[in-house]
Amino acid sequence: MNVTININGKDYSDDVEPRLLLAHFIRENANLTGTHVGCDTTSCGVCTILLEGVPVKSCTMFAVQANGKKITTVEGLTQNGKLSPIQEAFHEKHGLQCGFCTPGMMPTSVAFLKKNLNPSEDEIRWAISGNLCRCTGYNGIVDSVKYAAEKMASNQ
Ligand code: FES
Ligand code: FES
Repeated sequence: MNVTININGKDYSDDVEPRLLLAHFIRENANLTGTHVGCDTTSCGVCTILLEGVPVKSCTMFAVQANGKKITTVEGLTQNGKLSPIQEAFHEKHGLQCGFCTPGMMPTSVAFLKKNLNPSEDEIRWAISGNLCRCTGYNGIVDSVKYAAEKMASNQ
């Protein structure tokens, strides 16, 4: 089937098998390898992207289901070649160690912060509960999301 998916503002078209997962379209057809695949079973969240602004685990969708839709991957979070607040925050607050979970953590956090720029620690932990991290113990990630929220709120 022919699909066209807009990823980070650019259209990617290809003839794909109906069974092709969106995660594989992003990585192999669009060559955007920031999005990772971990469990392939909707558990770990490393494949999270934004579909029309909503966080979605891209191993859980077929590419054909995203036909005609807009997607943002971790590569698309930069703003005019600069780090976005969430990217800067993960850097400043050590929100990563190996970095494997980071491309999923960031889109999840961006969608959460669109709704809540004054989150409590519990709210942050709940928001990222669908994204697993095996390294950080989550404290650095929670601090990063809080830091990004404060930066974004002060720029409003
Ligand atoms: S690879 Fe998609 S949730 Fe783990
Ligand atoms: S930083 Fe290693 S899995 Fe999260």
